[in-house]
Amino acid sequence: MTAAAKPTMIEFRDVHKYYGDYHALRGITATIRAGEFFSLLGPSGCGKTTLLRTIAGFEEISSGAVMIDGKHMEGVPANKRPTNMVFQSYAIFPHLTVAENVGFGLRRAKLSKDELNCRVGEALEMVGLRGLGARAAHALSGGQRQRVALARALILKPKVLLLDEPLSALDKKMREQMQVELIKLQRQVGITFILVTHDQEEALVMSDRIAVMFEGEIAQLADPETLYRRPNSRKVADFIGTMNFLPARILSEGEQGIEVEAQGLGRMLLDPSQAPGAASGTGSSVGFRPETATMLFEGQKAEREAMGTVEEVVYYGDMTYYDVRLDGTEAPIRISMRNVFGRPVLEIGARTRVAWSPGAIVLFR
Ligand SMILES: Nc1ncnc2c1ncn2[C@@H]1O[C@H](COP(=O)(O)OP(=O)(O)O)[C@@H](O)[C@H]1O
Ligand SMILES: [Mg+2]
Repeated sequence: MTAAAKPTMIEFRDVHKYYGDYHALRGITATIRAGEFFSLLGPSGCGKTTLLRTIAGFEEISSGAVMIDGKHMEGVPANKRPTNMVFQSYAIFPHLTVAENVGFGLRRAKLSKDELNCRVGEALEMVGLRGLGARAAHALSGGQRQRVALARALILKPKVLLLDEPLSALDKKMREQMQVELIKLQRQVGITFILVTHDQEEALVMSDRIAVMFEGEIAQLADPETLYRRPNSRKVADFIGTMNFLPARILSEGEQGIEVEAQGLGRMLLDPSQAPGAASGTGSSVGFRPETATMLFEGQKAEREAMGTVEEVVYYGDMTYYDVRLDGTEAPIRISMRNVFGRPVLEIGARTRVAWSPGAIVLFR
C-alpha cells in the first residue's frame, strides 16, 4: 500500500494548549496515518511531550480537536483510548520478574492463567526476550529494560504506540541497535508508532514522516528525504543536519524558473520546488548541504566551479570536513569529502576549486 492510501489514525485540528498563561501548543493541525512510524522532532521545550500526551489523554487541550481512528477524543479518559505509552524513564518494577512486569498491563483483563502466560510469551517473543520471563527485572541491562517496557505496552494490543524519548537513556551503541529493532518491531506489528525525539538523526533514520516543531508549532511535516533536501526555512535546515548559506538576490521569476545571483556562486536558474518556504522578510539566501559540493583535484572538471581557500580542516578518518571561503564571500562554507583511496587531504591555506550543482540548492527568501 502506498503511504498516501493509508487511512488516517490521528488527526489534530487546530489544537491549542495553555498552561496558565503559557501557550504551549499554538494551533497544531496535522494527520498521522495508520501504520505509520511518525516522529515529533524539535528542541527541548517545544511541546513534543505535551502533544503526545494529548493523544494519550493525559493532557486536556484548551481548544481544537484530537481525533483517533475517526473518533472525537474529548472527554475520553486515557484508559479508554486505543493508545499506549512507553515513557522516557522506562518505569518498570525492579522487584517483579520480567513476566510480571509485562503482564502488569493485563491485570484488569481477568484472563485465565494460561491465556495470560500465552500473551506474555507472545509479547516477550516480539521484543526478543523469549525465555527471560522468570528473570528479576532489576537484573536486566538498560536495553533489556527498554524491551520489557515495550512488551508491556504492546501486550494490550493498542492501535497506537506512543514513545516519549524511549532511547535517550541508552548509550550510543545500544541506542543505534534499539533504533533498528524498533523499526523492525513496528513493521512486524504494523500499528502506528509515534516517537518523540530531540535527536534529528534518530528521527531521520526511523521515521516514515516527521513533524519538526518549534515553540508549540509544526514548522514542517514531511518525509525524511524532503525535510533534508527541501527544508522550508533556514531554521528547519539548521536543525536537521548542517547547511551552508550564502546571501543571494532574486533577479527574476517566471515560467522557466527563478533566476538567482548568490555570493561566491554567481547566477543560477532554480526550479520553483527549490524554494519550498514562505518569505521570511529577512532577506534571501541560498543553502546547500556539505556533501553536495565537492573539491576538485588535478584533472577533474565540473560544469559549475568556484574558487576558494581552505580555512579549516577536520580529519575524521573516513571523512574530512573542510571550511572553505569562496572568493568574494564573507564566511566559509563547510564541504565534506569522503577520503577515498588516493585522494589527498588539503592543508589550511590551500587554494582549491569547488564544484557545486544548482540542483542541490535551496532558496530561502
Ligand atoms: N504541567 C506543566 N505546567 C506548566 N508548564 C508546562 C507543563 N508541562 C510542560 N510545560 C511547559 O510547556 C513547554 C513544552 O513542554 P514539553 O511538551 O514537555 O516540551 P518537549 O517535550 O518538547 O521538551 C515547556 O516550556 C514546558 O516548560
Ligand atoms: Mg519531552
